[in-house]
Amino acid sequence: MVPVDNDIDQLGLAVRSGLPDELKILLADYPRPMWRGHANMGVLTRFWLSRHNGFRRAMEMLTADNDDYLQGRIPVERFAQTLVPPLNGLLGALHSHHTIEDHHYFPRFRAAEARLARGFDLLDADHHAMHEAMEGVAHAANALLATQANDKDGLLTNSEAFALANQRLFDFLFRHLHDEEDLIVPILLDRGEGEWE
Ligand SMILES: [Fe+2]
Ligand SMILES: [Fe+2]
Repeated sequence: MVPVDNDIDQLGLAVRSGLPDELKILLADYPRPMWRGHANMGVLTRFWLSRHNGFRRAMEMLTADNDDYLQGRIPVERFAQTLVPPLNGLLGALHSHHTIEDHHYFPRFRAAEARLARGFDLLDADHHAMHEAMEGVAHAANALLATQANDKDGLLTNSEAFALANQRLFDFLFRHLHDEEDLIVPILLDRGEGEWE
């Protein structure tokens, strides 16, 4: 479980707009414009960033599909086959991604760069918050899918709840991906990838 930490609560995904300055000490040495061309940017880092970009693309597509549905461009009878498979795919991929980060990478990065240890408390708390948001999306999707096609009020209410649950997760995830990269890529560039394989 995540330890209770008021500072971390105040830096939760719902409220923060980036990493606090004390967690950007390495980022100051390795700012984003430097990343792509850096000599230590290797296969591991590129693969990890590509996974993040895949999540971003999946979220953008799901948001567009969700908007289409809410605007009536996707009929309700096609909603499930349009939205649920890619949403399930995204949720499953996020679970796997977080598990690898939590159990394999975060402990090693935390040990390697003690000045940024608190950042991994933050990312850990993010993962918990996102899992709650994912459960909210799954719950809202099930409620919507269980709504009868002739229940227009129910469809409207439940589709709006589903859209809100999606948006909450997507807002959390975009914030998390950005801050996680700001914390970790500078460590990888600073140390090189050799010790993480
Ligand atoms: Fe993460
Ligand atoms: Fe990640």
